[in-house]
Amino acid sequence: MRSPLLTLPKAELHIHIEGSLEPEMMVALAQRNGITLPYDSVEAVQAAYQFENLQSFLDLYYAGAQVLQTEQDFYDLTWAYLQKCAAQQVRHTEIFFDPQTHCDRGIPFEVVHSGITQALLDARVQIGVSSALILCFLRHLSAEAAMATLEQALPYRGIIIAVGLDSSELGHPPSKFQAVFDRARAEGFLTVAHAGEEGPPEYIWEAIRLLKVSRIDHGVRCVEDPALVEYLVEHQIPLTVCPLSNVKLCVFDEMAQHNLKQLIDLGLCVTVNSDDPAYFGGYMAENFAAVESALGLTPEHLVQLAENSFKASFLPPEKQKPYLEELLTYKTSLEKI
Ligand code: ADE
Ligand code: ZN
Repeated sequence: MRSPLLTLPKAELHIHIEGSLEPEMMVALAQRNGITLPYDSVEAVQAAYQFENLQSFLDLYYAGAQVLQTEQDFYDLTWAYLQKCAAQQVRHTEIFFDPQTHCDRGIPFEVVHSGITQALLDARVQIGVSSALILCFLRHLSAEAAMATLEQALPYRGIIIAVGLDSSELGHPPSKFQAVFDRARAEGFLTVAHAGEEGPPEYIWEAIRLLKVSRIDHGVRCVEDPALVEYLVEHQIPLTVCPLSNVKLCVFDEMAQHNLKQLIDLGLCVTVNSDDPAYFGGYMAENFAAVESALGLTPEHLVQLAENSFKASFLPPEKQKPYLEELLTYKTSLEKI
């Protein structure tokens, strides 16, 4: 069987739109907006991308996001990512955005939201990529600040289907945001949370029990707690795993040591995602390629991961159906080769 990487239809469920800011666009937007970057070339930006842990990455990532100023900037950023989706057969994407990163430096919520949303709407019509937005709260900031952000977002419900929790995990457990997530659910949002990337299994339990999440973002440290693995398997709570990210941020020393195959073999509903593709060396196809070669995944594994991605998405069953049928046709065609 040939490798299905480039033609496999799939969904992406863990992508921070600010993390798709390629160095070329960072430099171009800095010029367009009259911002001075601490780098004098695209190569210098790329050379800075050596991370020791999540925090060392976040410091650069928040600094890079400062070049995003206007509605057009947010449109261009999102449009470039959606073009990648179309090129890599990503049929559906559920995109995180971090309003606090922008609103706290004076960019109105409306500017961020309209730029991103207009690109999503254009992509649905022009390149056939379906999408939704997930508003993430920055967990290193206060619960009060998260609540204020939620209130700001209420008039924009619709394309924002869920809220999530990202940024520095250690020291900021999900329990800190219980009241915010209670309110978000009462307002009709679904919930997800980053947990078990650097943080302990206890944070995954808190995300499930206190924040009532539908999916865990990352979650790779669940294997340290057998009762948690059993619970995740029994309830088929999806994990949105990000292999290239985990290696770049030193969660695993190298791809060959990643536990993705172990997670699949344990019966977990695992998906593969890019997290911050411009910073970690690739989009969906590159993540699939990396795990395929380093972990010896078979085409059947890859098809299973793609199937999981649609089933774990927030698309209603009737919208998942055509994608799952396409995948089945694809699988059958592979078997004939
Ligand atoms: N924000 C962007 N990427 C992130 C990650 N991998 N973990 C937590 N917050 C993030
Ligand atoms: Zn993430």
